[in-house]
Amino acid sequence: MTGLFREEIIEEIRGRVDIVDYVGEYVNLRKQGNSFVGNCPFHADKTPSFHVTPENGLFYCFGCGVGGDIFSFAMKIENLDFPQAVEKLAQRAGVNLVRQAVSRQQQEHLDRLNRIREINREAALYFFANLRAGEGKAARAYLQSRGVNKESQRVFALGFAPGGSNLLQLHLGQKGIQQEEMLAAGLVIKRDDGRVIDRFRDRLMFPITDVRGRVVGFGGRLLGPGEPKYLNTPETQVFHKKSLLYGLHLALPAIRQEKTVILVEGYLDVIALHQHQLTNAVASLGTAFTPEHGRLIKRYAREVILLFDSDEAGRKATDRAIEIFREQGLQVKIAALPGAKDPDEFLQIYGRKAFLNALAKALPIIPYRLQRLKSEMSLDEPGSKSALLAQLFPDLAKLSGQVERQEYVRLLAQELNLPEKAIWDDFRRNQGEQRRKYPLLRDKSPEIRNNTIGNKNVNSFRNPYLIAQENMIKLLLKEPKLVFQVEQRLGSDVFADKRCQEVFFLIKTLLESRTGEPVTIADLVNHAPESVKNFIAKLSSLDSLPLGERQIEDTITSLQLRYLEEQVEQKQQQIKEAEAAKDSSGRQNLLQEIINLQRKIQSLK
Ligand code: CTP
Ligand code: MN
Repeated sequence: MTGLFREEIIEEIRGRVDIVDYVGEYVNLRKQGNSFVGNCPFHADKTPSFHVTPENGLFYCFGCGVGGDIFSFAMKIENLDFPQAVEKLAQRAGVNLVRQAVSRQQQEHLDRLNRIREINREAALYFFANLRAGEGKAARAYLQSRGVNKESQRVFALGFAPGGSNLLQLHLGQKGIQQEEMLAAGLVIKRDDGRVIDRFRDRLMFPITDVRGRVVGFGGRLLGPGEPKYLNTPETQVFHKKSLLYGLHLALPAIRQEKTVILVEGYLDVIALHQHQLTNAVASLGTAFTPEHGRLIKRYAREVILLFDSDEAGRKATDRAIEIFREQGLQVKIAALPGAKDPDEFLQIYGRKAFLNALAKALPIIPYRLQRLKSEMSLDEPGSKSALLAQLFPDLAKLSGQVERQEYVRLLAQELNLPEKAIWDDFRRNQGEQRRKYPLLRDKSPEIRNNTIGNKNVNSFRNPYLIAQENMIKLLLKEPKLVFQVEQRLGSDVFADKRCQEVFFLIKTLLESRTGEPVTIADLVNHAPESVKNFIAKLSSLDSLPLGERQIEDTITSLQLRYLEEQVEQKQQQIKEAEAAKDSSGRQNLLQEIINLQRKIQSLK
């Protein structure tokens, strides 16, 4: 089942199931304004706190905070998982394809993007045929020497770009494709002298697809030594390196099933893993992993296993990836492949069984760090254990729960042969120092970043900055297109609240990937993790103010103000630090920054 298929089915069901009818089978609902209210079926509710808003197809309980769409409701009330809920509601809905109407301008944009993908597909077919023709002999031999079998070559649609300077151009030209279009697809290069030549020459070609399996670009590898080893399609309207993952389309079924993604560094690693029936492997396109990758993965999985090359570059990449994915709330594990430089080589030498073994031994972040530190330093010297611990405390602090923290302290106590209490004392002292040294770190604790404290606490309603962020998101839920205006005027850093941030990026990514098609609340809910669904349900069932120029302007300005005020507060904190450190030039700079911020604030008021 492809992503497209599922998404369409879900849309179709959503269009056909009336949430009031459906929820009404379990809850006695009565109409109140634009929504329906009743006693919440999920907690002992005496006052009707349970709201259903047919307009967005969402429900939310102001008593217990449960909310979501028809699928969330089915999951919760019948205790089903998502696929089961889809199945159940599909039965109820019958089958009918609902097509969204799009404007002419949107349609033109969509057509342009489709055209670029089509040209890429044509190119892929050309390369594919070439690999199997006379020209492809050396490339075929190369693949064989690398252990890539025929089946993998077919599944990944590998190809070969022959050596001439305009063979692809000639071929595409015969298909009625213009040179401008080839340039837009990144398949040809315009040289300084004005000549246009094929970008990929004499290279083994790896087509790169989007999550729906549409070819959007290529990686091309030299068959022998030389530079650059890989050449990729440049950024185009359909090729965005920071949000594409090699092999994702093929990996989706397994990822959905296992809720785990194996991340590797190279295209050939992905292929090797798939060839060994480990079909949940993907790679980035030779760049570092980004928060976009994290968000994409989070749509389908809960856990990532990092499996990078066994060199220093691989370790550095691992550290960066840990930060990115942890920040996104994904479970992170790190696997090691001793005795090989990368996963591909490991599979060739030791085979599938050894590989599975290594995967089973993948370590969560703290044990991984511990193991690495232990191998790097000697623990016999006095003070070394506490130096080692100090390096682990930031990870310990970033754990989301106290229970987990306790488990790890226990583990550390065992591994380092220290009493648990000594570790706790050290940890608390260290955290205290960190706070004194960097008071802002306090605001970076996961609880506050994720706003889990604020949520359970009435405080969140008194925090004007949070309110401004939520208002902005409320507005964006009504008018998603505004994200671009907001981003342009305020930047994307204005959302400090984790959930607001997630909704903001979700809207933005969806709009970018749709390129023109409107984004509805239903789409957002489709792509949101449960916790964010809930947040969307809450915000969109709060109230429905009219949406005028004025209101948009006010919301933007107020968020900007609150954000600037927050900045001022932070700088004030930093001034105190600078004073304590007798850093007078630092203090001077900060003062100047505050003055500038205050000016901006005044100009907005
Ligand atoms: N890469 C790149 N440009 C390069 C080198 C590498 O874009 N000049 C990217 C490619 O996406 C590549 C990944 O970085 O897949 C990892 O690099 P490497 O480990 O060198 O490549 P492999 O795919 O493992 O290829 P091989 O085993 O043939 O070296
Ligand atoms: Mn390799």
